[in-house]
Amino acid sequence: MEKLLIKGGKSLSGEIDCSGAKNAALPVIAASILSSDDITLKNLPYLQDITTMFELIGSMGADISLDERMNFKLNTSNLSNLEARYELVKTMRASILVLGSMIAKYGYAKIALPGGCAIGSRPVDYHLKALEKLGANISLKNGYIEAKTDKLVGANIEFEGVTVTGTENLIMAASLAKGVSILTNVAKEPEILDLANFLNSMGAKISGAGTDKIIVEGVEELSGTTYEIPADRIEAGTYLIAGAVTNGNITINKIDPERMGAIIENLKKAGAEVISNGKSISLNMTNHILKPVNIITAPFPGFPTDMQAQFTVLNCMGQGESRVKETIFENRFMHIQELNRMGTNIRIDGTTAIINGVDSISGAQVMATDLRASASLILAGLVAKGETIVDRIYHIDRGYERIEEKLSNLGAEILRLPN
Ligand code: EPU
Repeated sequence: MEKLLIKGGKSLSGEIDCSGAKNAALPVIAASILSSDDITLKNLPYLQDITTMFELIGSMGADISLDERMNFKLNTSNLSNLEARYELVKTMRASILVLGSMIAKYGYAKIALPGGCAIGSRPVDYHLKALEKLGANISLKNGYIEAKTDKLVGANIEFEGVTVTGTENLIMAASLAKGVSILTNVAKEPEILDLANFLNSMGAKISGAGTDKIIVEGVEELSGTTYEIPADRIEAGTYLIAGAVTNGNITINKIDPERMGAIIENLKKAGAEVISNGKSISLNMTNHILKPVNIITAPFPGFPTDMQAQFTVLNCMGQGESRVKETIFENRFMHIQELNRMGTNIRIDGTTAIINGVDSISGAQVMATDLRASASLILAGLVAKGETIVDRIYHIDRGYERIEEKLSNLGAEILRLPN
């Protein structure tokens, strides 16, 4: 298995570009199933999860090609196998995103039921109950979800709990339903707005995305489109923390700072000088003292759970005690034992990590357990004295495009070790 070798202690400086957002790209690829025309996607990140999503729609019969400008062209007019196999779903839970578009377009979907994962049990009951309200007939058998309908019909749906991919599945399904759907208690993440923008560019009639009430007026069919995937706010936030913990001075380009409110606000509270400039964010931590910040994760616009592990590392390097409370997933502290092996002082009390800052940490051989946990181990490696080897980095390749190259461009000493 490939590993990353990091020699810590370098202060990062320079500029890098942000890549397209994984969590914006995945629902957009799934939504391509709703149209029978060509769809061109620009700025797709080169990530394992994107490859898995292509493998999934490819296994159903989608035509996928790459043009001379590295844009992907998708055509899903000839889907013949309306099934998402367990072998793919088990490697990526976001495979559930094809459910909404398959049932809306073809009246049928068979999808392996995603199991739990490293960060929590992560059921999909909100998705299924909401789809039933649109008229889908759903049964669970032999580890699969089977959904059938003659035609989905618009409905008023109040989600039981806020769910990002659940909201996305329902927007997709309601887009081709008969009549109007009013979705309430929906997720407000920027990626929901991205999906609505994509679908509206295909002729859908969706309003309210980004607020907690979304209105979808079903249409007969959706056309092709060309769409650019927006930048990844979590990737950008991770590099900003890399700048902060190494007392660096870095700029992330091609990013929308408007989407990063809670991240920027907390970096400022931590003592960083952060300047947003239209499409870039600069962070300067040279000659500033790092102060730990209490964090509570929450749905957007709150502090993202996908930045919790990374911010924990930042808190470890500030003086004094801080608390990081995880409210979205019940088991998202797997990185903490590994961080403590490097010399951090973190104690878990229920859903709260209690952190006492330390003067320094030391390199160690550590193991990644999930995507954002791996990012936190790399951040710790950048600060640690000596060498850190991060094992199981296939987790990082799911969500960070060429991380060692981007960090090297900022002056880090980081190398991918082959198998
Ligand atoms: N939940 C239920 N029932 C459901 C759906 C969700 O109980 O039917 C619970 C979950 O178990 C969790 C909470 O509701 O406790 C929120 O889960 P949500 O459904 O919002 O998560 P998701 O849609 O599966 C997306 C991102 C995650 C991100 C979360 C929260 C994608 C592909 N994934 O997951 O991203 O952490 O929203 O913001 O968009 C990552 O990129 O590392 C990642 C895990």
